[in-house]
Amino acid sequence: MKGMIFRAFIDHVEDAYGLNVADAMIESCNLPTDAAYTTVGTYDVAELVQMLGKLTELTNTRIPTVLNQFGEKLFFNLANSHRGLLGEVNDSFSLISKIDNHIHVEVRKLYPDADLPDFTFESVGPDQLTLTYQSKRGLADLAEGLLRGCFAYFKESVEIIREDISGGDSKHVKFTLERSRPNHG
Ligand code: HEM
Repeated sequence: MKGMIFRAFIDHVEDAYGLNVADAMIESCNLPTDAAYTTVGTYDVAELVQMLGKLTELTNTRIPTVLNQFGEKLFFNLANSHRGLLGEVNDSFSLISKIDNHIHVEVRKLYPDADLPDFTFESVGPDQLTLTYQSKRGLADLAEGLLRGCFAYFKESVEIIREDISGGDSKHVKFTLERSRPNHG
């Protein structure tokens, strides 16, 4: 997993829980890298899982909640640091329909060793879309957070209905997205 994800995670922990908690989280882990991540370096996702475990112990929170909140912030971070990749999209559904066949493809050109999930999507109507996430890393909660960040980025109200196809390990998850339009009644 790319160092930019680890650095964004530690920044998020510092912002959300404070420097002391971020330091305690890192010190209580046994990280081969000592959390010295470079943006374009590649590191074992197990280090992120270790930090998540310690953070939820220290803050009495749940991993799905932390990954969701981090994902929302991470979307803005990735979108703002890779503006060119977003192109001229003006709404969340247009962006989401481009994740697998454009955005992540361009990401893989930039970072050939990136660990990217697989997405398939189906447009059911102008305001309904299903997106299926698949990854051996089981980060569907991060994907859900990134989706929420995408809706916030485009200032849209979208309901997420989630179905875990892989029996609860977050490796294969279907998201049904229903967008509500502001009524100009
Ligand atoms: C709503 C839109 C998006 C979703 C749902 C999404 C989902 C994900 C997920 C779940 C991962 C973690 C890897 C895994 O689960 O196996 C990931 C990794 C990543 N995504 Fe996306 N992504 C989105 C948009 C973007 C955008 C806009 C960018 C940049 C322009 C981007 C760049 C990346 C990068 C660099 C990684 C890290 C790969 C690595 O660590 O090796 N993503 N994405």
